[in-house]
This record gives sequence, structure tokens and C-alpha cells, in this order.
Amino acid sequence: MRDVAVIGIGCTEFGEHWSTSFRDLFVKAGTLALEDAGISGEEIDALYVGNMSAGRFVEQEHIGALIADYAGLATKNIPSTRVEAACASGGLAFRQAVIAVASGMEDVVVAAGVEKMTDVGTGASVDMLASAADREWEGFVGATFPGLYAMIANDYMHRYPLTREQLAMVAVKNHENGARNPIAQFKNRITVDTVLSSSLVADPLRLFDCSPITDGAAAVVVVPLERAHEFTDSPVKVLASAQASDTIALHDRRDISTLDATVAAGKRAFAQAKLTPKDIDMLEVHDCFTIAEICAIEDLGFCKKGEAGRLTEEGATALGGEIPVNTSGGLKACGHPVGATGIKQICEVVTQLRGEAGARQVDAEIGMAHNVGGTGATVVVHILGA
Ligand code: COA
Repeated sequence: MRDVAVIGIGCTEFGEHWSTSFRDLFVKAGTLALEDAGISGEEIDALYVGNMSAGRFVEQEHIGALIADYAGLATKNIPSTRVEAACASGGLAFRQAVIAVASGMEDVVVAAGVEKMTDVGTGASVDMLASAADREWEGFVGATFPGLYAMIANDYMHRYPLTREQLAMVAVKNHENGARNPIAQFKNRITVDTVLSSSLVADPLRLFDCSPITDGAAAVVVVPLERAHEFTDSPVKVLASAQASDTIALHDRRDISTLDATVAAGKRAFAQAKLTPKDIDMLEVHDCFTIAEICAIEDLGFCKKGEAGRLTEEGATALGGEIPVNTSGGLKACGHPVGATGIKQICEVVTQLRGEAGARQVDAEIGMAHNVGGTGATVVVHILGA
């Protein structure tokens, strides 16, 4: 296996893009990534695109071919593949690109993610997202992702010392980070009271506990590490790429407030990189709901079960804290265009490791990205190093 490096990143602004089409969102992110890598489309050997549900959100399937075509690569006939794993589609597309390069099969590979969710209303969007849960046992009886994560939150708060205020502090911190991120959907700073007085979505989760519905795209370019210096002076090395799965339905889990796939993917990633949580300087986790950030910090091994609420309250996960979590603003403030999120997380880790994060810069040489599909049926974890 060859070592792999990221040499270029690009991300559109996340938000409501009424005047930009699905394909143009991708082209925008892809162009930014190629410019950043200093390469032309001609040099790309293969393309992997993370996308959850363009067939339902914008009535377009066959995304691999569409994206290659609108990237101007149709006549080059390169392999272009759509990757789907619900909200983990982006992270998994990155993993496929890493595998392709590591194996020696391809050299210059683009991993991208794109989703355009706001062309349909909230009700339709929530239903489409719910198709990533177990349709027969969860969706058909009315369970949505806010509802399922609310069950996780209730179970967690019953068993561990997490206060409603500490949960709100996750959102307050992520909005603070988002306010410093030019691509974030929400750049407004909020308080604990903003969260606690926002409308109830699924008890105990309120509006500001939820990631929003978002349009956006992100792309990265990966190459063999041995060739990285042909393109850039600041390649970021992929130290680990791990994936795990679990039951699709929440009620079939061993323990609903521990994501076993996160535990497994995290352990595999640390073993590959020969590192421990103490070595990680910053962390992008899948905070689709505030409770998800709490679980992720614990399930990845950064503290014991039941301690992440206290760590959040003490500021350990804030910029400048012991282990900054979601410096980008996370899914909560940055937005969550489901197929693009995993790639945006990689972009944020690379931005931080290169020292280019501006007002949200932390001191980091090693970063981690954690991307979840559903309530934890697919988890992808990457570790990158400067
Ligand atoms: N956080 C903060 N503000 C939000 C928000 C969020 N998650 N979602 C919407 N808003 C804001 C909007 O900007 C808007 O503000 P404005 O009135 O100042 O313009 C207002 O709240 C109402 O927006 P609207 O689009 O009508 O919200 P909604 O009530 O239709 O949808 C949710 C809110 C929480 C139901 C929706 O964002 C949602 O389902 N989120 C979860 C997405 C999800 O499940 N993703 C997959 C995870 S696994």
C-alpha cells in the first residue's frame, strides 16, 4: 500500500443556493480544489462523488457520469463513481479515493461530495432523510432523524450526568466557530438561552440542537505521498482511513447511546495510525444533533462515557481548549448538505493543519474527521497529519 496525501481542497459556501444548480455546486467546489492543487482537469485519473439522494432531492440519478460530464471530463472517459452511505457518503467517497491511490490503481483522484436539499420543503426533506433509517421498522411508524436522535438523547440523559444546558453549550460553541468560518450557513453567535427558548422539534431536542437543511459541495484532490511535492509544498498525509457498520435500526442496537460503529472505526483508525486520542490536536465530528457530538467525543475515546457534557461546559472542546471539536462550526452551524459533509470535514482538517483557518485557527499537527450515516449504521473515520 502506498501512502496518500491531500494536495488540494475546495468548498462552496453552505446554505440555500436558489440560483445555483446541483451540478454547478459540484463544479464550483471541484474548480476550487483543482486551483488549490495547481492542477488541471486533464490530470485527473478518477473521480468519486459522495451523494445521498439526488434522485429524490433534485430528481437526478447517475451522478458519477453527470459530474464527470459537467466537470468537462466526458471526453477523457475517466472512471467516475457515485458513493452512497447516507450522511456518511462524503467520508466514504474520500475513503474510496484513498483506497484507489493507496492500492496503486490510480494516481490523481478527486473525492467530492454534493447535495442540494432546499429545492424541496422541510417535510419532504425530513422524509427523504428518514429513508436512511430502517424504512419498515422506523420510517413507516413516523420516526425521523430528529426523533431517533431525541431517543438517544433521552436514554443518554437518563443514564449519564448530562444537563439540558450542557447539551445547548454544544450548539453555542459550534455557532461561535461557525461565526468565524466564511463558508458556514449560520454565522450568528447564540447563547444557551437561544437554544433553550427555540421551538421544540423532538423532545428534548430543540431547533438549535439540530443541523439544518443545506445545499453545498466540497472536493479534495489526493495523490500518492511520493508525488505530492510535484504539486504542493504543504501536502497533508492520510494517516488512517477506517470504516465500520452497525444495525440500521436504532432499536436493534446493543446500547442506543453508544455508537458501536464509531467505537470500532475509531479503534481501527488509531491502530492504523499507531496513535491514541492524546495525539489528536483537533477533531471534526458528526454533530447532526447536539447529542451526537457528545456521543462521538466519548465513543472515539477522548473521554469516558458521561464526561463529554462536563468537558463542553469547561471549554475543553472550544477553540483554544484541550481538544477543539468542530472548529468549522460543525454540521450545526456550517450546515449539513448530507453528501458533502464528510468532504467538508476533510477540508476543515486540512485547512487547520496547513495553518490557514484564520480566526478559528487552532494549534494542530494531527486532526481527525468522523462522519456518520443514519444513527450510526455507517461510520467513517480519518486521521490526517501535517
Ligand atoms: N438551526 C438554527 N436555525 C435554523 C435551523 C437549525 N437547524 N433550521 C432552520 N433554522 C432557521 C431558519 O434559518 C429560519 O430562520 P429565519 O426565520 O430567520 O429565516 C427558521 O429557523 C425557520 O426555518 P425553516 O426552514 O422553516 O425550519 P424548519 O422548521 O422547516 O426546519 C428542522 C427545522 C430542525 C426541522 C430542520 O432543519 C431539520 O429537519 N433538521 C435536521 C436535518 C437532518 O435530520 N439531517 C440529517 C441528520 S442525520
